[in-house]
Amino acid sequence: MERKYISEIKSDSGKVIVGGWVSELRIFGGIKFIVLRDRTGLAQIVLPKKEVSKELFDLVDSFSKESVILVHGLVKKAEQAMNGFEIVPEKIELISKAEAPIPLDISGKIESDLSSRLDWRFLDLRTLKNNALFKIRSKTFKAVIDYFDSLDFTAIQTPKITSAGVESGAELFEIKYFDKKAFLSQSPQIYKQMMVAAGFEKVYEIGPIFRAEKSHTTRHLTEFTGVDFEMGFIKDESTVMDIIEGMLKHIISSIKKECEKELKLFEVELIVPTKIPRIPIQEIRKMLKEKGKIIPENDDLDAEAEELLGKIVKEKFNSEFVFATNYPFTKRPFYHMKPENDSNGTRSFDLIWNGVEIATGAQREHRYEILKAQGKEKGVNLDEMKDYAAIFKYGCPPHGGVGFGLDRIVQRMLKLENIKEALLLPRDPERLNP
Ligand code: 4AD
Ligand code: MG
Repeated sequence: MERKYISEIKSDSGKVIVGGWVSELRIFGGIKFIVLRDRTGLAQIVLPKKEVSKELFDLVDSFSKESVILVHGLVKKAEQAMNGFEIVPEKIELISKAEAPIPLDISGKIESDLSSRLDWRFLDLRTLKNNALFKIRSKTFKAVIDYFDSLDFTAIQTPKITSAGVESGAELFEIKYFDKKAFLSQSPQIYKQMMVAAGFEKVYEIGPIFRAEKSHTTRHLTEFTGVDFEMGFIKDESTVMDIIEGMLKHIISSIKKECEKELKLFEVELIVPTKIPRIPIQEIRKMLKEKGKIIPENDDLDAEAEELLGKIVKEKFNSEFVFATNYPFTKRPFYHMKPENDSNGTRSFDLIWNGVEIATGAQREHRYEILKAQGKEKGVNLDEMKDYAAIFKYGCPPHGGVGFGLDRIVQRMLKLENIKEALLLPRDPERLNP
């Protein structure tokens, strides 16, 4: 006989083998209960003294919570039990005994703080809620791939050990690379533009991103998973926003369909977006001012402003999402294209979901001389960035793209308090373990 998952068992399944972790153990004089947990759910194992052998009845006393056991038993209908059945064992194998007490309570009876949970993450991940969370993350990952694949984008994997970046230099992690200085990649920006110029036209990458930001917030990590895409022959940045809209629709409708059971554990209602409002940042400043939040002309939206903006668009447009467009050039990297009639602006946007930025994108400047001049304005010397400069010298179409944080998508989707809950083993300025 083969082991079955708990979710496969019905009250008339007869003899079965189930295996998993001892979630609960209740020992009374005449009866003993084990709540068994596997990746699909919980099941009650019941041992009435009169119905099982003395040897088996006594064996259970040596079990501890979180031990791994294999149960050979008979399924019986039991209206009062959690799934309408319970299992009376004939034999139980103790596969791996857990030391007691376990260092983290995962019964849900005592709330553990996030730091302890992360210290003992593999135990923390055993809860059904965390199992569900990472199934949702896995399905999100798959939905992204399916979406770009359906549009015939090429998946690329670019180097994470680099000699330089094009974003702000302060956020780079320096590493020793034999006798040279190197950096961990803070964005696939250069390479995705390179692959557009390589003739792939439409590329996407899901991969690690490193940021040496000493930020202690509920939305910053030093290592996260980026979802980036870049495409050639666009009309302008609106083409990029159109693709993003399609991506979000696809992700959210897929999760609603494929993770119905898992979503219930998070008490969130997912809404598939229709048309996402696109509002120039200058307009947004006015909207915020009306609500008492002043953002000076050339400043970025701070966390408070993003949150307030989230509320405003929910109220005004009944949308959880908003594109904030036309950022001033002073706030954007040198490679963002300027609109024809606005030398202080850029063809760029941020995407805000429920009050937090989840993506930044733009049309890129592909005309070498203009790019070089824009670099100069920002103190960037394109002549010193030979690999990047070359992209634009030998035939490069107009193009644009965006970078998302997968962890932020999952955080916003499930309304998690802290981004660190959205990935397996988070890294922040203090945390390097486990
Ligand atoms: O806004 P960012 O820095 O933009 C770029 O990297 C550009 N190269 C993208 C482009 O194609 N123009 O990063 C993109 C996204 C952010 O919107 C956010 O979702 C996520 O990456 N992100 C972070 N997530 C977690 N922790 C951090 N420290 C993050 N920094 C950025
Ligand atoms: Mg950004």
